[in-house]
Amino acid sequence: MNPDDGIQLIDYEPTAASFLEEALAGLRKPRKTLPCKYFYDERGSELFARICELEEYYPTRTEVAIMHEYVGEMAEAIGPGCAIVEYGIGSALKTRILLERLISPAACIPVDISREFLIRSAKELAGIFPDIEFLPVCANFSEPFELPPTKRKPSRAVAYFPGSTIGNLTSEETAALLRNMAKTCGSGGGLLVGIDLIKEVEKIEAAYNDNLGVTAEFNKNILRRMNRELGSDFDIEKFDHLAFYNSEDRRIESHLVSRADQSVRLGGEVFAFREGETVHTENSHKYDIEDFSAFAAEFGFTAERVWTDAGRLFAVVFLRID
Ligand code: AVI
Repeated sequence: MNPDDGIQLIDYEPTAASFLEEALAGLRKPRKTLPCKYFYDERGSELFARICELEEYYPTRTEVAIMHEYVGEMAEAIGPGCAIVEYGIGSALKTRILLERLISPAACIPVDISREFLIRSAKELAGIFPDIEFLPVCANFSEPFELPPTKRKPSRAVAYFPGSTIGNLTSEETAALLRNMAKTCGSGGGLLVGIDLIKEVEKIEAAYNDNLGVTAEFNKNILRRMNRELGSDFDIEKFDHLAFYNSEDRRIESHLVSRADQSVRLGGEVFAFREGETVHTENSHKYDIEDFSAFAAEFGFTAERVWTDAGRLFAVVFLRID
């Protein structure tokens, strides 16, 4: 990063798994899958931003409202002089709400694997909060990493992981992430995390099956992206969006359903799809606060505060690292 910007990028030069390798591995499985992290190219990110505005998609709106209402209490729970470590640059809005109210934070450390996106967002935030030291870290947060030294010694390091993005991880990935966060932020640190709560199935399913079909487009966009970037030949019209709540695993599953028997080429291989066969593209786990806290406790976290909306749709939880 240009030193004139006044902010320095700490680059651990993470190696991203290749899109082609991961897509091939997913399509070779007896039950085909594609990793949801590849939803977010430019078009995918635009579609996700539209999803967040949809009537049916309650999580974003509800979390933002919780943040607005309780951010003062959150700042108090975190305490003065913290270093806030933002895992994944997702929502500038929620981060801004938090940064506006944190009590003299020592630093803000946004962490992301996408270097350009990270630099852009860090610059934007640094422009809005000139008194906060910004230390963007380019790293893959599925592994622990060292926090950079800050000008002012922080009282504690607190991870911020909003948006219920944790719900898109498998339980093994969640376990690894919590373990890494505990290591990175250290004893006495904390985690402020947004989780989507279990509720009536109709409400959850509606959020992933909007009337305007934006979520369907978002889901199918991964095939468009593969055609463009990986040279596959998916006929997008021959796949339907399917999202349903799996109550046993407490998650919305998003799939793409083949409308016909067909074959698709990718990376020199040919993949056969039967009519009705699905490609599982995303899981969005829903949580019970007690179960989530008990799970996090296995990795050294103690839930200290929980903020929810009146309808108990969504929760923001603050956990201390023991
Ligand atoms: C980013 N993530 C938390 C969203 C979710 O609800 O799982 C992504 C999404 N998928 C479909 N709609 C929104």
